[in-house]
Amino acid sequence: MPLPIVVLVSGTGSNLKAVQDAITNGRCDAEIRAVVSDQERAGGLALADNHGIPTEVIRMRDFPDREAWDAALSVAVAAHGPSLVVLAGFMRIMGQAFVQRFRHRAINVHPALLPLFPGIDAPAQAIAARVPLSGCTVHIVDAKVDAGPILAQAVVRVRPSDTPHTLHRRIQVAEHRLLPRVIDHISRGRIVLGDPPRLPDGEQNDDIFCSLL
Ligand code: GRF
Repeated sequence: MPLPIVVLVSGTGSNLKAVQDAITNGRCDAEIRAVVSDQERAGGLALADNHGIPTEVIRMRDFPDREAWDAALSVAVAAHGPSLVVLAGFMRIMGQAFVQRFRHRAINVHPALLPLFPGIDAPAQAIAARVPLSGCTVHIVDAKVDAGPILAQAVVRVRPSDTPHTLHRRIQVAEHRLLPRVIDHISRGRIVLGDPPRLPDGEQNDDIFCSLL
């Protein structure tokens, strides 16, 4: 049974596209029930439309405060019955209502090797710190920003000539491989979400943890 998922996006939606492509090609055992955004102009919404995936926009400015927005978002997402919520470039901090409702059922992709460089501009942070390697992390969403239990990481070289933009583009190539694989692993019970999560053990799974680009 494909894993029912809802994807949250604020921007371009290249990770959403990677997940949908992997589903289409049989590499990700999931079904995107809906794409929800806080931005009516998010590119990810058009992409979802093109695939006939239902979309919803829950804008923060339509609510009196952050808590009311968070509660409305939680209800809207839950209405689609996801077993997993995937934050794919969703640029908002989740509130208590969301975190509690989707405890151990929401994951996020971040463009750095957490716990290094949480928050915004992670590729710029990596360049400023002069690290030779960076990458991406898929982790469980909890109440702290970019700090929930880590499920998988992929490593990317930081080149001396890199700008934040060029590094981010290569990190995104890694994200597009890693995120659909993590979702597929969750669907097939190879990653079991929880605190702590039960992570894959065995040679066939090792490569999701190390893809050097
Ligand atoms: C990704 O790099 C992700 O790590 C970060 O936001 C970016 C979203 O890109 N959280 P896209 O919208 O999937 O193209």
